[in-house]
Amino acid sequence: MKAVVIYKSKYGSTKKYGQWIANELGCDLFDAKDIKIENLKDYDTVIYGGGLYAEVIAGVSLLTKSINMLEGKKLIVYTTGITPIDCREYYDEMVIQKNFKGDLKDKIKVFNFPGKMLLKELSLVHRTALKTLKKIMAGKENPTDMEKMLIDLCDANGDFSDKALIYELTEYAKE
Ligand SMILES: Cc1cc2nc3c(=O)[nH]c(=O)nc-3n(C[C@H](O)[C@H](O)[C@H](O)COP(=O)(O)O)c2cc1C
Repeated sequence: MKAVVIYKSKYGSTKKYGQWIANELGCDLFDAKDIKIENLKDYDTVIYGGGLYAEVIAGVSLLTKSINMLEGKKLIVYTTGITPIDCREYYDEMVIQKNFKGDLKDKIKVFNFPGKMLLKELSLVHRTALKTLKKIMAGKENPTDMEKMLIDLCDANGDFSDKALIYELTEYAKE
């Protein structure tokens, strides 16, 4: 198995998981900005990691836009985010549906890991975005349980990364 891990990471959390995964698999690791889809032809397993930003997996279009060029490869995506990893409803309804249209979800195996959000590190744009999101959702008359959870998550502050969680992914990659 010749595998590669590619990551796009603003605050370092997705990169850290990428390093853990690449170390465990003994495989190549690239920042997404340093790689093009054409460079992936020699790999039979492609693992892409992106942080979640408003349910969008950062940079995942590198894979999804060129899915035809990746035919026959094992494709794995991991995300990092602050939503608790057992929130399947959030993940399945919002993240999977938003990022993997049509039959893409059958072609790519997806894993979600807890990431990091430290308020002191956030850019002004991101702090403002979270404030606005919270205001919009908190202003709703009857917020759903999911919206209530998202309101609380706007104030999350911590590093929830955990190396032990990579093993389900690495075992699947090795199969
Ligand atoms: C503006 C903004 C939007 C975010 N949106 C989400 C989200 O929709 N779902 C989620 O689980 N986490 C969300 N997060 C948390 C990030 O995904 C989390 O901090 C992640 O670990 C960042 O990855 P990185 O450190 O590799 O950039 C958001 C964070 C910011 C600052």
